[in-house]
Amino acid sequence: MAVIEVEKLTKVFNNGKIKAVDDLTFNVEEGEIFGFLGPNGAGKTTTIFMLTTLLTPTSYKKAMVLGYDIKQQANKIRHNIGVVFQEMVVDERLTAKENLKFHAKYYGMNKSEYKSRIDELLELVELSDRANDLVSTFSGGMKRRLEIARGLLNNPKLLFLDEMTLGLDPTARRRIWEYIKMLNKEGITIIITSHYLDEIDFLADRIIIINRGKLIELDTPSNLKKKLGKDALRIIGVGDIDKAIDSLSKINIIKKITPIENNEGFVIGLNIPGGESIPIIIDALNSINFKIKELSLRRPSLDDVFLHYTGREMQDNFINGKKLKKKRLFRRRH
Ligand SMILES: Nc1ncnc2c1ncn2[C@@H]1O[C@H](COP(=O)(O)OP(=O)(O)O)[C@@H](O)[C@H]1O
Ligand SMILES: [Mg+2]
Repeated sequence: MAVIEVEKLTKVFNNGKIKAVDDLTFNVEEGEIFGFLGPNGAGKTTTIFMLTTLLTPTSYKKAMVLGYDIKQQANKIRHNIGVVFQEMVVDERLTAKENLKFHAKYYGMNKSEYKSRIDELLELVELSDRANDLVSTFSGGMKRRLEIARGLLNNPKLLFLDEMTLGLDPTARRRIWEYIKMLNKEGITIIITSHYLDEIDFLADRIIIINRGKLIELDTPSNLKKKLGKDALRIIGVGDIDKAIDSLSKINIIKKITPIENNEGFVIGLNIPGGESIPIIIDALNSINFKIKELSLRRPSLDDVFLHYTGREMQDNFINGKKLKKKRLFRRRH
């Protein structure tokens, strides 16, 4: 059964100058972890805001959450979903418990309902021993866990998590991932968004890749990787890139070749195991005087998937308008 059904969902800002979400169509099935992947500005948060009824869509043909229309039956939806926002909403000046109480009251829960629920949730996210401490004394990971507890107050069947590990260290991220898996095992359908490839790869049953508001691909992580071929070879070097791509394209061991955006090299999807291909490719590049500076072989990652479909590398990311330093935003899993 589909818990979310979306057809041609669109949101524009600034009188149509910005198409944040552009004609998106997809379904989310009950029980799955459904991941939105895309760089900053792709339209993930805008989509989540519309599905959680916080933002009115510009247009749609169909947009149902738990069987309710997002515009006509917003209240029904709000009472039956949980949301953890990209921006923190817990109040630092309150204790963990006070925060949860505040939100429980907001949901219209009475004391007999929320008292045991809050204790249960604090236990679940392992914050019971810090229940009466001010949130300002919490680490980033602890705040996120409290946010998750908050999102679960009303016992939702459907939970939205927008970039919930942003800014966390690797250990704290892992821990959040474990909670998400656990909640999903208990039957909660989960929608996550992330621009971290490893996160989506690890968590999601199906992935929707979006870029500039548009759907690029929707499939399981393994199918997305399969579409790229066996291994991927990434080559950085000096020489005529176009000529290199041209001569490599003629070799029949290559499934797909994509230049890297800044024109320093390319990624090659292979039809044969990577090790066998390396001497052949080196020969071909030598013969046109292309000087290889870096060569790395890997199983196709979601990074390659993204590059394949958009011609951009995922690490080419912007946060608050500032380009990130050239560090990897994710770890490769081999
Ligand atoms: N309230 C707004 N007014 C104008 N533009 C907006 C607004 N919210 C988002 N946008 C723009 O819409 C696009 C998608 O943003 P967003 O949904 O936040 O992307 P993501 O969550 O994938 O990083 C971006 O170009 C962003 O600048
Ligand atoms: Mg966002």
